[in-house]
This record gives sequence, structure tokens and C-alpha cells, in this order.
Amino acid sequence: MEYTQQRMVQEAAKHAETSTSLITPLNTVLLGLVVYVGYQLFKSSPPPTLPKQEPPTVFRTFTPQTLLENNGRDGKPILLGIRGRVFDVSRKPHFYGPGGPYENFAGRDATQGLAKGSFDKEMLTEDLTAPLYDPEALNAEEREALMGWEESFSGNYPVVGRLISQAEFDALKKE
Ligand code: HEM
Repeated sequence: MEYTQQRMVQEAAKHAETSTSLITPLNTVLLGLVVYVGYQLFKSSPPPTLPKQEPPTVFRTFTPQTLLENNGRDGKPILLGIRGRVFDVSRKPHFYGPGGPYENFAGRDATQGLAKGSFDKEMLTEDLTAPLYDPEALNAEEREALMGWEESFSGNYPVVGRLISQAEFDALKKE
């Protein structure tokens, strides 16, 4: 009986020893780490905020007359036409807006002016009811230049519509 009691005391002492040996500084740090990582993983993240929505691009058909007012004045966008495509260049008002170095192209068909690298008034078909400038009339060098501009504009600005002559527009209306 005495032996049994002695063994029980010995076993209890051993058990106490092993359970206290688990509480080491390293284990405490590891436990802390596990709890922290678990918390970070499971804590509810705030719902993502959606970026401000871009206004939808409405593809429009312009004539030289309807394109004209889009020159950046009175809060209007800045649009210009190149070979039948209308680009929205509003994000660079310092180039194309009022007082900018290329404001002459704002609201106009810029095809001839860009191809020839000229700001002359005659480059922008004065008569807004006349046929659009025909790029077939350009020489090889001018065509090359125009292609370069088209590539650059396509990469930088959204196309928001097409530009057709007044006569083409009137014919469409009759259909
Ligand atoms: C003395 C002659 C010229 C100088 C010093 C000049 C200078 C410049 C400069 C510094 C830029 C800005 C480049 C950038 O940071 O992206 C630029 C862009 C431009 N230039 Fe000129 N330029 C000249 C002539 C012309 C001519 C003759 C035309 C056409 C008729 C022209 C049309 C443009 C256009 C369309 C842009 C692009 C603006 C954009 O990013 O949308 N430039 N020019």
C-alpha cells in the first residue's frame, strides 16, 4: 500500500513537471503568433469600394457642323476628327482647349492639318457643308505622317463617334 501511494506521488510529480515544461517563452511567442495570424486571416475585411464609374461612351455620328461646338468652350468636351473617326481629346485641354497650341483642331476635321503639319486655316475645310477632305489627295510623306498621328491618337484617346459629310448625313436621314 505504501508502495502504491509512493508511486502515485511520483507519477503526479512527473505529470506536473511535463505540463509546466510546455509553458516556455518560445511556446508563448509561437502561440501568440498563431493567434495573430489566425485573427488576420479570419477578421472580416471591409467591402471593396468600387471606383467611380466612367460615363458610358455613346458612339455618335457627327457632321462638321455638329462637331464644331465640341471645342472645349462652355464646358463642352473637346473632340476632333481624323479620317472619319472622332476622338475625344478632352483630357488634354492645355493642348486642344482654348488658348492651347492645337486649339485650331478642336471641333474640326484635323485630317489635312495633321497630315501636312500645318495650322493654316485652309487645312480645316471652311465650308462645313462641303464634302470632307479626301485623304487620297495626300502624298506619300503626308500619308505616313497621318498614319503616325492616327496611331498615336488611337492609343491615347477614346473614339466617340464617326464624322461624315453633311450630304452623307442627309442621305442617311432619308433612308
Ligand atoms: C515648332 C514646331 C512644334 C513644336 C516645338 C511642337 C512641340 C510639341 C510638344 C512639346 C508636344 C508634346 C509632346 C508630349 O509631351 O506628348 C507636341 C505634341 C503635339 N503636337 Fe506639336 N510641336 C510643333 C509643331 C506641331 C505641328 C506643326 C503640329 C500639327 C499641325 C503639331 C501637332 C501636335 C499634336 C497633335 C500633338 C499631340 C498632343 C497630344 O498629346 O495629344 N505640332 N508638340
